Amino acid sequence: MTKNLYSPLRIYKIFHLLLTFYLLIKRRESFLFIKSIKADKITSYINYLGPSFIKMAQVLATRSDFFPPNYLNELKKIHDNLPPMSQSELEKVYEDKGFINFNKTPIASASIGQVHEAFLKDGSKVAIKIRRYNIEKIVKTDIKIISFLNVIFKPLFSHYTKNSIEAVISEFASTIIKETSMRIELTNLKKFSKIYQDSNIIFPKYYEELSNDNMLVMSFEEGFRFDDRKNIEEFKIDIKKAINDLVLFYVEQMLIRGYFHADPHPGNVFINKNSQIILLDFGMVKSVSNETRLNIISLLKAANEQNYEEYIAACKNLGISAYETPTTMLAEFVEQIFDIFSNDSLSKTTMQNLAFEVMANTAKFPFKLPAEAIYILRVSAIIEGLGTSYLENFNGIKDILPILVKNIPRAVGAKETLVDTIFDELKELPQNLHYIKTSFHKISSGQIETNISKSQLEYFKKAIDEKVSELIFGLVLILTSFFILLLDDGFKFIAIAFFIAGVLRLIYKR
Ligand SMILES: Nc1ncnc2c1ncn2[C@@H]1O[C@H](COP(=O)(O)OP(=O)(O)O)[C@@H](O)[C@H]1O
Ligand SMILES: [Mg+2]
Repeated sequence: MTKNLYSPLRIYKIFHLLLTFYLLIKRRESFLFIKSIKADKITSYINYLGPSFIKMAQVLATRSDFFPPNYLNELKKIHDNLPPMSQSELEKVYEDKGFINFNKTPIASASIGQVHEAFLKDGSKVAIKIRRYNIEKIVKTDIKIISFLNVIFKPLFSHYTKNSIEAVISEFASTIIKETSMRIELTNLKKFSKIYQDSNIIFPKYYEELSNDNMLVMSFEEGFRFDDRKNIEEFKIDIKKAINDLVLFYVEQMLIRGYFHADPHPGNVFINKNSQIILLDFGMVKSVSNETRLNIISLLKAANEQNYEEYIAACKNLGISAYETPTTMLAEFVEQIFDIFSNDSLSKTTMQNLAFEVMANTAKFPFKLPAEAIYILRVSAIIEGLGTSYLENFNGIKDILPILVKNIPRAVGAKETLVDTIFDELKELPQNLHYIKTSFHKISSGQIETNISKSQLEYFKKAIDEKVSELIFGLVLILTSFFILLLDDGFKFIAIAFFIAGVLRLIYKR
């Protein structure tokens, strides 16, 4: 599959998929002669395009601020289980560190990697997470293609849409690249084990000396998936206690430490026979800056106390309300949030609905939610989902919010504890710095090129009359398309994209 990453058909499909996402965001049917992909076809498109797009779909599946429900439902169906890599590929990434009974058949295989069982000489059972052969290259190529296509689409969007799309792309790119490095996952697991050593949550023990960038070796943790109802009932596991522990742990992570596991779906959260929570999969871990964390807390506090002014101030600090947002619009938004916090009858509203509503509302308003806020909403909705699957009328607003509110004073006073986190981050820096130097920057060279041309164009724009520059830009794009055709016929789809962008530019001059 790696060989054909740049095949015209594939690039065209990526183009069509992104165009569809963009059309959906703009609530438009078609774009000149190109129609958006139908909701029921989108899954097969994404599966064809492979790992990066499967991951992307999973992230986008939660964005009710972007997509209508029929598309969201399709995106939610996309599962991250793929057939394991071939034995010859496995041999290229697996390094025998003296494991005993390494089982060549994985217990799980997904887009980025797969997990195998083995034993160490001392008899302890380990889980080895091995990333797919060449996955880093595939993901980086895809990001290059996405960034490139984004440059073409960009002129079509309003300032706010542009901002949020760009935020999504860069957030997606950095998240997925980090997930392809087992070394980064090891660093995350190490940090978690240290920062949260006093919590009652179990993390796998890591074997640093046996791990490398392709393999993460950890203790094999015995437990049941969180949604394994049958075993959880059979072993009389105290699910109420487990859910309570999990909720408290998430409050600790998000509001107090500002460092959290951002993907607590049932495959990553296990429960053992002693009703203890085991957290797995440290590929997606997020930090919240101290400033943002404190702003989120004042937002919660203001909402809880119905303090309008403080709330608006917190919104502004968080960047939720762009400075141009009309006050009436903001007031409307605040009103909705205040309702949720005040009205007891609204306790039926689930966290999931709240997250959905907040996001859907921001689609109407000219402001974007900061990435951290999106993650917090998403994680809260997932945790609520875990709760509702067991406890009847478990509800995020009713059952989680009071815990949040109760912890506000503690969270506000937590300024110092975060220093530990930052200190740890500094200690890990040399390792991560190396990683950033050797990989992230290499791939973003493509993005840098496009950025440079973008800023040059922006300079251009300022220098001459706006309309003239729009005209020139359109013509330049069209000329580029011919030029690409002359260069290599194999790139005709890219040329078409350029051509279309150029024509549009001429039609939609502002
Ligand atoms: N330390 C472990 N002990 C036991 N099982 C594990 C361990 N790590 C992973 N697994 C199993 O492998 C699956 C996939 O691992 P995970 O780290 O979640 O990978 P992915 O990033 O592909 O989701 C988990 O859902 C779990 O069943
Ligand atoms: Mg997982």
